[in-house]
Amino acid sequence: MSLDLIHKLVMQAQSAIIQSNSINTLESIRIKFLGKNGYLNQQIKTLNNCSSDMRPKLGAAINQAKKDIYTLFIEQQNILKSKNIKKTLITDTLDVTLPGRLSDIGTHHPITNTIKRMKLFFTTLGFSITHGPEIDDNYFNFDALNIPTYHPSRDEHDTFWFDETRLLRTHTSGIQIRAMANKNPPMRIISFGRVYRKDYDQNHTPMFHQMEGFMIDDNINLCHLKKILYDFLYNFFEKKISLRFRPSYFPFTEPSAEIDVIEQKTGNWLELLGCGMIHPKILRQANINTKKFSGFAFGIGIERLTMLLYNINDIRIFFKNDLQFLNQFQ
Ligand code: DAH
Repeated sequence: MSLDLIHKLVMQAQSAIIQSNSINTLESIRIKFLGKNGYLNQQIKTLNNCSSDMRPKLGAAINQAKKDIYTLFIEQQNILKSKNIKKTLITDTLDVTLPGRLSDIGTHHPITNTIKRMKLFFTTLGFSITHGPEIDDNYFNFDALNIPTYHPSRDEHDTFWFDETRLLRTHTSGIQIRAMANKNPPMRIISFGRVYRKDYDQNHTPMFHQMEGFMIDDNINLCHLKKILYDFLYNFFEKKISLRFRPSYFPFTEPSAEIDVIEQKTGNWLELLGCGMIHPKILRQANINTKKFSGFAFGIGIERLTMLLYNINDIRIFFKNDLQFLNQFQ
């Protein structure tokens, strides 16, 4: 080994680096000269064989050679990198005349549309919107609504129970109890939300949506209830549909009624909603003076209403994420 040899290696490396025209070749040159087993490190290994007066000189010369080669390597690397960038800037041109990619724009679900329309109608009449929990308990879903313990809707068959007291609400009527506990009359309240029952067929899904509404004020009577609901239905269907106000039974209203509509295809009466005058027991339970105040309440199945509006005959289609179906509601 000699200073001459080191000098030669530096010259070789320099000319190889300068001539390299790709990052990959440059890298292989670096490995060849500067790598762990590269030429310069091989020279270091032979230092032991040199005379002790030459050893420090040669050692220093090897280190200097490594530094010089490395500096040149970095310079060349930068040159090649910027050349590459320039090249891609020239070749990767943007063709602005290419047609763009269409992205599908989503729309509101038909159930959301119905809810929006219902909200608009009732808030215009001064009703305010409230919410209740989907996981409810015995008390709000049944007891406080005067639903007796033997009522079939409490059975395992209809209700999703978590344990002995907690359940997925089977209707939105529990909202009435919560609202009356928090506010004093006069009040006009509506609420929308998911409800759950163990049912699955063309007309039932285990989850569906209901709207609950009620109003408590001086001298509220059945005429107010009927007028508001008829107005709502005529407005919703945007035509004079044939409606029927029929006596019914709900534990939390007295008297109770249901409103039916004639289904156009079959000519049959179809139940639309349940309603009635809020049972005085429920008002008293909320410390509302029944001599002064009375109220009405109603509950509407939102899927049912939407199915009638669009002539849909299977409720399950709402929850299938079928784009062909959903795209119709642009
Ligand atoms: N909660 C009843 C149901 O799910 C619907 C209902 C009927 C609600 C009468 C009411 C009402 O507020 O007064 O079938």
